[in-house]
Amino acid sequence: MPERKQLVAGNWKMNGARADGIALAREIAEWAKEPHACELLVCPPATLLVAVGEALGGEALTGGDVRLGGQDCHAAASGAFTGSISAEMLRDAGCSHVIVGHSERRHGCGESDADIRAKALAAWRAGLIAIVCVGETLVEREAQIALAVVAGQLAGSVPDGATADRLIIAYEPVWAIGTGLTPTKRDIAEMHKAIRGHIPAGTRILYGGSVNPKNAAGILALPEVDGALVGGASLKAEDFWAIARACT
Ligand code: PGA
Repeated sequence: MPERKQLVAGNWKMNGARADGIALAREIAEWAKEPHACELLVCPPATLLVAVGEALGGEALTGGDVRLGGQDCHAAASGAFTGSISAEMLRDAGCSHVIVGHSERRHGCGESDADIRAKALAAWRAGLIAIVCVGETLVEREAQIALAVVAGQLAGSVPDGATADRLIIAYEPVWAIGTGLTPTKRDIAEMHKAIRGHIPAGTRILYGGSVNPKNAAGILALPEVDGALVGGASLKAEDFWAIARACT
């Protein structure tokens, strides 16, 4: 079974002008010179990918210490899709990873499991690692159907032929994203254990949703938690680094 080295990924979302992104990337690259037990990934807005890749030392694709990822991609390689970006374009911009199916795309942009599945396939076609996000809403958690909802999302959005070296799952309860709320450690552990039963052995499962320097160590120490997908706290290099340092 492949080793599941923890991964701390920063999802910058729609934040940052060029100067901000470059400054943040430089700070992270500086911190990353210190010893750390995890892999690091930053996912800036598409407009900043090339500049951030350069600020990270231009090694993102060649296995440099801080890798570069996109926040979404289109399923097609090219064509008449105004405003969209293909997985091939992300690869060309220096990315090694792409997030697909983030809840802000599922719920904010109406993306279905089938859409996300097609995007994951596109990621693989382009040679990228697909980070497939899943997670229940608060209504679903309260109705005690969270496990079933996530199982359904996995069945619908993880393509056949998945392997641990090109798939990462991010469990992000919708109600925990950007709210300061997190599930109990018991609920996180239960969900990660359940997810493990649906994916190839050795696939990493990240937790995402209000991870911060204070709660990171507790979450990252849970069994089956192979890292974190970090939104708000990834916009401050110091906080992002504190989370990375909490990895074991
Ligand atoms: P948050 O976002 O850390 O700000 O809750 C996580 C995410 O949306 O990936």
